[in-house]
Amino acid sequence: MRSRDSSACMVDRRAFLGSAAAVAAAGLGMVRHARGAQATLGVGFIGCGGRMWSHIACVKQLIDEGAPLRSAAVCDVYRPRLDAAAEATGGTPYMDYRELLADPAVDIVAIASPDRHHCLQALDAVEAGKDVFSEKPLAHWQQFEQLKALAHRVDETGAVLQVGTQMVADSTCRQARDLIREGVIGKPLHAQVGYFRQGDWGERGMPIPDPDARPGPDLDWDAFIGDAPQRPFDISRFFQWRMYLDYAGGPPTDLYPHVYTPLAIALDLSMPMRVSGLGGKLFYNHAREVPDTVNILADYPEGVTVALLGTQANARPVETCIRGSEATLVFGGPGIQIFPADGNATPSLEVAREAGGDTIDLWRDFLRCVETRERPWSDVWTQYGVQTVVNMGMLSMLGGRMLHFDPDGERILEDPPVEVA
Ligand SMILES: NC(=O)c1ccc[n+]([C@@H]2O[C@H](COP(=O)([O-])OP(=O)(O)OC[C@H]3O[C@@H](n4cnc5c(N)ncnc54)[C@H](O)[C@@H]3O)[C@@H](O)[C@H]2O)c1
Repeated sequence: MRSRDSSACMVDRRAFLGSAAAVAAAGLGMVRHARGAQATLGVGFIGCGGRMWSHIACVKQLIDEGAPLRSAAVCDVYRPRLDAAAEATGGTPYMDYRELLADPAVDIVAIASPDRHHCLQALDAVEAGKDVFSEKPLAHWQQFEQLKALAHRVDETGAVLQVGTQMVADSTCRQARDLIREGVIGKPLHAQVGYFRQGDWGERGMPIPDPDARPGPDLDWDAFIGDAPQRPFDISRFFQWRMYLDYAGGPPTDLYPHVYTPLAIALDLSMPMRVSGLGGKLFYNHAREVPDTVNILADYPEGVTVALLGTQANARPVETCIRGSEATLVFGGPGIQIFPADGNATPSLEVAREAGGDTIDLWRDFLRCVETRERPWSDVWTQYGVQTVVNMGMLSMLGGRMLHFDPDGERILEDPPVEVA
C-alpha cells in the first residue's frame, strides 16, 4: 500500500500514452495545450444544493482573477436547484451526473452531492479522465471498499483529487509537520483534536424548500438513493438527509474530517492499526438517527495514539495538541507553540503562522496541482487514512466493538471475541 508521504503522483504516465484516457490522465495542462494557449478548463458542478454555491463563487472569483476556467455544466437530481445553478453559471444542465461526465466541455469536476455519492461520482469522474474537487467526507461510513478503490484508481490514473477540508489551507499543519520531522518534540506519542459545537442546524435545520415535492421528472428519488437501501420516497430523507444513517453519520463524518486532516498531515499519519468509537445520540432525542456525541480513539503502527473528540451539545473546544517524548506542540490559531514535556505552561518556542486560508485557497492549490500534477494539500491518500479512521470509529460505535486494520489486505477486521472475565 502507498504511504501519503510522496509529494507527487507516482504513476508512470508514459505507460498510458496512446490511449484517450491516458491523455486526460496526463494532465489538464496538456488538455489546454491541445486546445490552444487561450483554452480554458471547463468545470462541471455535481450536486447544486447549499454548499455548491461556495464552489460556484470560488470559480467565479478565480475567473475574475484570470484563472483559465469556465463554468461548463451543472448537475442536480432536483430540477429547481438544477435550474438555479444553470442560470447562475451558464453551464449545461444535467439531471444525471454520468451525462455531465460524458460532456467533452467538462475537464474538472466539483462534487457537493450528499456524502453517499462522493466516492462513486469521484471514481466515475477519474475513469472519465477528469480531475476532481470533492467535498468531504470522501466516502459514506459504509463505503470503505469504494474508498479503497478510489484511492488506488487515483494513483493508477495520475488524476488530481482534492477534498474540501478547508482547514488545511491554514499553513500551520504543514509547519507543524516540518517541526515534528526535525525532531522538535522528540517522538510523537499522543495527540488530541476535537470538533465541538452547539446546534443541529446542519441536520434537522436543513430546509425543505417545497413540502409538495414528489418523485417525477423534476425529482429523481432513485438517483438520490444511489447504493443506499431502497425506501419509498420520504421528503425529510430527501432534503434533510444528514439526519439519517443511510446517507450521513453525524459529527464524525460531517465535521471530524475538517480537524483530523490537519492533524494527519502534521503527524504524517497513514493508516490506523486499531480504532474504537464510543458515544451516540446522547443529546437530541427527536427523529434524527445520527449520533451527536462521539469520541474516537485510534492507535497507529508508528506508535502514536490519537483522541478525536466532539459533541454538538456544547461548544467548549479542545486545543489541537501533539505530545512527544521531549515536548508538546500546539497548533492552529495564531501559529505554533512548543511547551516543555514536564507540563510547564511557558512556551519554549513560538512559530508564527505563515498563511491562513479558506475554500478559495484549496481551489488555488487544486488548480496549481492540476497544472503540475503534484498532490494537493487534501489529497486522496491523506483522506484514505482520515476517512478510514472515521469509518472505523462509526462502525465501532454502532457495533459496540473495537476494530483492527489489516495493512496487507487493506481490510477492516473485527476484534476476535475473547472472554476477559
Ligand atoms: N467543506 C465544508 O465546509 C462543507 C460545508 C457544507 C457542506 N459540505 C459538504 O457538501 C455536501 C453537500 O452538502 P449540502 O449542505 O450542500 O447539502 P444539500 O442537500 O443542500 O445539497 C446536496 C445537493 O445534491 C443533490 N443531489 C442528491 N443526490 C444527487 C445525485 N445523485 N447527483 C447529483 N446531485 C444530487 C441534492 O438535490 C442537493 O441539491 C455534503 O457532503 C457536505 O458534507 C461541506
